Amino acid sequence: MVKLTPPMGWNSWNTFGEHINETMIKETADSMVENGLLECGYEYLVIDDCWSLRERDKNGRLVADPEKFPHGMKAVAEYVHQKGLKFGMYSCAGNLTCAGYPGSFEHEFIDAATFAEWGVDFLKYDYCYHSNIIPGEYLYRRMGLALENCGRDILFSACSWGADETHKWIKTSASSMWRSTGDIFDTWESIKDLAKQQPALFPYNGVGCFNDMDMLVVGMYGKGNVGLQGCNDTQYRTHFSLWSFFGSPLMIGCDIRDMTPETKKILTNKELIAINQDPAYRQPYRLNGIWQNDNMLTYAKNLANGDIAIGLFNLNEEKAMARFNLDEVSLPESTGKTLSMTDIWTGKSANTVNANVMWELEPYDCAVFRAKVVDLP
Ligand code: DGJ
Repeated sequence: MVKLTPPMGWNSWNTFGEHINETMIKETADSMVENGLLECGYEYLVIDDCWSLRERDKNGRLVADPEKFPHGMKAVAEYVHQKGLKFGMYSCAGNLTCAGYPGSFEHEFIDAATFAEWGVDFLKYDYCYHSNIIPGEYLYRRMGLALENCGRDILFSACSWGADETHKWIKTSASSMWRSTGDIFDTWESIKDLAKQQPALFPYNGVGCFNDMDMLVVGMYGKGNVGLQGCNDTQYRTHFSLWSFFGSPLMIGCDIRDMTPETKKILTNKELIAINQDPAYRQPYRLNGIWQNDNMLTYAKNLANGDIAIGLFNLNEEKAMARFNLDEVSLPESTGKTLSMTDIWTGKSANTVNANVMWELEPYDCAVFRAKVVDLP
């Protein structure tokens, strides 16, 4: 499937791990609609690892665990579709999934046919227990080909974190997104680490195959499968802003049946989502500024309608000043233009009459602007 903007949805892994079942999935589908997440663009509901029996059936087909999914996956897919959502599932390029359930190695075409029959719209494809002889590149192309021949439009999400130099070959497969990081955990260190890895991979990001920075931990507060110590709301807001700004797929990972008002406010920020889903999908570029340390990320991104998104992210544990010069966003004084900048989160405006724009940020905080090009006063 060819996707023109980063996929958005919810995935069961971060919070539920192996504790998945039909009731919880149906309730999640209900919540995606009732909480306005679908309306914001979160359209895929994805069941991750641990959904099947440990053995295939006598015809070599995968079987949904009847204790977890007593009515089978087709019934789950139908429920999800009735809600106006799309249905996603998970498998693996190896003999086994990471949690030890059957993987799709040497069963690619039969599994793609099964997923199509069940009404699956999205397949996340992991890379545990893989062959040491056949390169990942071959295995992802193979499953991509199987999906493209299965008779149903299924978005292929390559969770190819362990494969060699994935960025160099992933666009030769049918993948619409590829994991450009290792696994996320619900800690500030993990968010910071994954965010800082991305800029080197921007040249490999683009329409049709998006760099996937892994699922969001916004709103987990240390609960669940990748819980650990959790983060505070400022850190979650910066996490969401970074993933949106850097153009990652936005897959929610918290229990949305039980969101705090702040979590909902973060995840449904339509202005941030619009930057993430911008039709031009241009890559961010660094604003170097001066006196900035490695933990102050300052980026701009030119949007389809001529606006410039500006993201200032303070990854420091202390207050810090973000700076950049209008020259760096193509607006030296000689153009007669400047920017009109209002922070999406606080509604505060920046002073852009001087060539140097400065903005103080609290620890872990960020500011994101959808700046308009205007005449210099
Ligand atoms: C590793 C992946 O990176 C995770 O997102 C999750 O899918 C687990 N495997 C499931 O075992």
